[in-house]
Amino acid sequence: MSIRSLLFCACLLTTSLVPAAAQETASIMKDAVAVWHMKSADDGAGANSRLEPIGDKTAFGVKLDREDATASLQRGGDGYAARFSNGALLVGQGANGEINLKGKELTILLRLKSEGDSWDVTLFSKHGGHERLQYNIFCFGMPDGALDLGFEIGTTEGFVKAPAIIPADRMKGWHDIVARFDGSRAELYFDGEACASVPLSGLLRPGSDSPLIIGGESGGDGVARRFTGMIDHAVLWNRALTADEIAQVSGRQTQPLYQEPYRPQVHFSPERNWINDPNGLVFHDGEYHLFYQYNPFGNQWGHMSWGHAVSRDLMHWKHLPVALPEEDGIMIFSGSAVSDDNNTSGFGKDGATPLVAIYSGHDTHLLRQTQNLAFSLDKGRTWTKYEGNPVIDLDAEHFRDPKVFWHQPDKRWVMVVSLADKKKVQFYGSADLKQWEHLSDFGPAGAPNVPNWECPDLFELPVDGNEDATRWVLQVDVGDNAPAGGSGGQYFVGEFDGRTFRNDNASDTILWVDHGADFYAVQSFSGIPSGDGRTLWLAWMSNWRYASAIPTYPWRGSMTLPREVGLTRTAEGVRLVQQPAREIEKLRGKPVVKLGGVEIKPGTDPLDERDVEGRVLDIEADFAPGKATRFGIRVREGKGACTIIGYDVRLREMFVDRRKSGRVDFHPDFAGFHSAPLPLGKNGRVSLRVIVDDSSVAVFGNDGRAVITDRIFPDASQTGVSLFAEEGAARLDSISICPLESIWRSATAQSQDPRRVVRDSRL
Ligand code: FRU
Repeated sequence: MSIRSLLFCACLLTTSLVPAAAQETASIMKDAVAVWHMKSADDGAGANSRLEPIGDKTAFGVKLDREDATASLQRGGDGYAARFSNGALLVGQGANGEINLKGKELTILLRLKSEGDSWDVTLFSKHGGHERLQYNIFCFGMPDGALDLGFEIGTTEGFVKAPAIIPADRMKGWHDIVARFDGSRAELYFDGEACASVPLSGLLRPGSDSPLIIGGESGGDGVARRFTGMIDHAVLWNRALTADEIAQVSGRQTQPLYQEPYRPQVHFSPERNWINDPNGLVFHDGEYHLFYQYNPFGNQWGHMSWGHAVSRDLMHWKHLPVALPEEDGIMIFSGSAVSDDNNTSGFGKDGATPLVAIYSGHDTHLLRQTQNLAFSLDKGRTWTKYEGNPVIDLDAEHFRDPKVFWHQPDKRWVMVVSLADKKKVQFYGSADLKQWEHLSDFGPAGAPNVPNWECPDLFELPVDGNEDATRWVLQVDVGDNAPAGGSGGQYFVGEFDGRTFRNDNASDTILWVDHGADFYAVQSFSGIPSGDGRTLWLAWMSNWRYASAIPTYPWRGSMTLPREVGLTRTAEGVRLVQQPAREIEKLRGKPVVKLGGVEIKPGTDPLDERDVEGRVLDIEADFAPGKATRFGIRVREGKGACTIIGYDVRLREMFVDRRKSGRVDFHPDFAGFHSAPLPLGKNGRVSLRVIVDDSSVAVFGNDGRAVITDRIFPDASQTGVSLFAEEGAARLDSISICPLESIWRSATAQSQDPRRVVRDSRL
């Protein structure tokens, strides 16, 4: 065999032994300035920057245990670490001073595990004081055990700190910390997730003679704030790694988008990053627009901007670039949008109908909230902020979330907007969307002991379809203490005469829109053609209590399905009814089961042996309670876990029990049992319509008289469905279970670069 073919074989052997992920990571490290693998004091990127232990308290070449070694290899490490016992490592300046970085980009990666009692340590620092510092990663332990992690950087334009609070329970074990500067932002990533992002421009400061220290910082005449624990590897680049590269070197699974664990398949979610409230829901020129509270820079709340997607069928969404970015210290908080068909605003030009967004500007310095306008003349693709902004300014700190609609009898626009901390909404009127007249206030009313009111909505609906008997629905969200715990939406039924809202019920009557934990900031679509005539709304499917902790990556947050809203007269008064918008039915596949007229005896399941399973399902079931005290359906069942959906005959309540639904450990308030009052329906029957997705259930009882929407985080292998009855037999009149087809089949063909704030693109 020739030497060449021998080499070829050796090559094949080594590549097949190294996981693909490790190879990819190794290629990201190829152009690093320095790579310290910690097997020895050497710099793996060249001979330049050897490490010099300070004192004799650092041991190189500590072999990692099997799992830790695999994790190390996947991240581009070599399976060895250095153990620091209150030690630190000094980096020589290198033959060519390579660690004095030049230009306007850098990235630092550290993989480490603390073994000390204190997190008051500096991890990677080229310090020499804030005026000279080039880069620095450090942390402080906080009294509650959390970690205050920070990345500091100095450029020719200034010095900033990008700080992040890492909860106590996330600090144990190994972690990947990445700091990046790309010439416009200093950012910090913890385990592949962005946790801090601060604007800063300029070129990196010229390097100083102060040394780079790993596991400490220069202080006095020695090295202070020394680290105790293990460092697997440390890497320094003179370029900004991309978000995908950061995910890769942090060992995050890089699954194809929309195929990650817990990714909703029939609900909207962005490709990446944090979302909360739906904003600017409007039908305009054949498209439904969904704007939403969006952080273009990370997976936590921050830098609020309006993300944007459009749909022609309310189910399939096309991602578009950020519509309204945070700018000049003003975040773009929630609001609405209208199609200004008569060009009342005068923004229209050359016959183009303006789409006008009315949003709250949140001044991050002054902590003031005002109402503002932006308009688009190209179907929402590009936006211009109105030069006369703000259009309403009360010099108030909590004044937000304007919802605007056309009030036909008075032929003018009406805005309902919240004075959040006063638990009031205000009504304003305007002929042109620019000049607003204060009309009246409403509130406080309804649920007591709630911290604030947000995201109001107001519309008129026929009662039981009778256009001559209409009432108005005023919907208001409360930030906490809703029935399922945390945030939720309440509503009032009454009359609105164009100026004032009068509640039909006593002011202490409490009506909840949804009795689950995950239905917030609901907003109705404006501009639905009269030929359609439906009132449609959708909400953020999360809860402020735990929204930032839900275990999803690389996105966080999703929307509910659009729902059709109506009013019906009941024994207690006029009440809201909601149903999933009928468009969902187009996603249905062939039923996996259709069954009727069977008894469900306690301990038996008529679906048993029928192989009924699925992760994303549309279920319709009608029951007669018989002698059962409780009955219903278990979904996403497996591994000893499931979500239980049912009816309690004695309490006359519908319920969802997610206490053992799958992952519930990420927040103490997540696991829970949620119930909604629901009288028996026609002929004493109970009907349940359930939409199950990869991380949610929405249950509509008796044609939408009660609704419970809850997130769940079951394992992908939990696919079982079963029926149950307790203490006596219930009768199953009928059940039909259909799989739902994913709306994201072509998602990989789309691209939604979160950083792309394109204002002049025409998609
Ligand atoms: C509601 C809310 C709004 C605000 C927005 C900020 O969830 O707090 O009141 O406009 O989120 O993201």
